[in-house]
Amino acid sequence: MAEIQIAAQPGKFGSTLRRDNWWLEILPVIVVLGGFGAYATLRAFEGNYYMWGPYLSPFYSPLIDAGHRWWKFSPALLILAGPLGFRATCYYYRKAYYRAFFLDPPACAVGESRGHGYKGETSFPFILQNLHRYFLYLAIVFLAFLWYDAIVAFSWDGAFGIGVGSLVMLANIILLSLYTLSCHSVRHLVGGKLDCFSCTAATRTRHTGWRGASFLNERHMLFAWLSLFSVGLTDFYIRMVSSGAIKDIRFL
Ligand code: FES
Repeated sequence: MAEIQIAAQPGKFGSTLRRDNWWLEILPVIVVLGGFGAYATLRAFEGNYYMWGPYLSPFYSPLIDAGHRWWKFSPALLILAGPLGFRATCYYYRKAYYRAFFLDPPACAVGESRGHGYKGETSFPFILQNLHRYFLYLAIVFLAFLWYDAIVAFSWDGAFGIGVGSLVMLANIILLSLYTLSCHSVRHLVGGKLDCFSCTAATRTRHTGWRGASFLNERHMLFAWLSLFSVGLTDFYIRMVSSGAIKDIRFL
């Protein structure tokens, strides 16, 4: 039987025997991830229009030194490293941006341009990708603050109320929680380092947790994109409302 060859020619950038439009996979990543990066950077430095009524933009949560007593720049810059580090070291995003922005490789079985000095993620700066698990711990702390913000978004002068922004913030924190809980490191924490799932009651419980984590993990890419959109749109909505460009609609 003839063997089908789709491997790239070594050392020749872009060479491939693939016949599909492989570059279509990286175009949306360049547009969406690049667009989000530009928007988030502008908003983080803007330092304005991040709060309205009970709504607080996720880019600014937790809100530290809003009165500029000891920090004269945007409060978003004080917390930026946490969410940014978590996303930047995410296993899925690494694959996406290595391909889209570094073209290393541009796609499966497509030639890349690098020479012989390639060390993967074993030397600086890429060795820092191994900090992902620690960024996960930090992300869980951020989630707690964002859940608090989402609950506060239903409180209007102490009374329960619902505005469009309340629902937007709730949807955002649900998607962010799904993204975090579907993390590869969560799956490893729940079910890793075990030789036997069925040996004790505790390991059987971990097996159940591991199956749940695996279910979410299989959808990690989906949650990565949905939560990216939801964070950006939540911030954009609160920015528009607080600047007076649009009005928040109250249902209750
Ligand atoms: S692997 Fe994507 S957040 Fe952990």
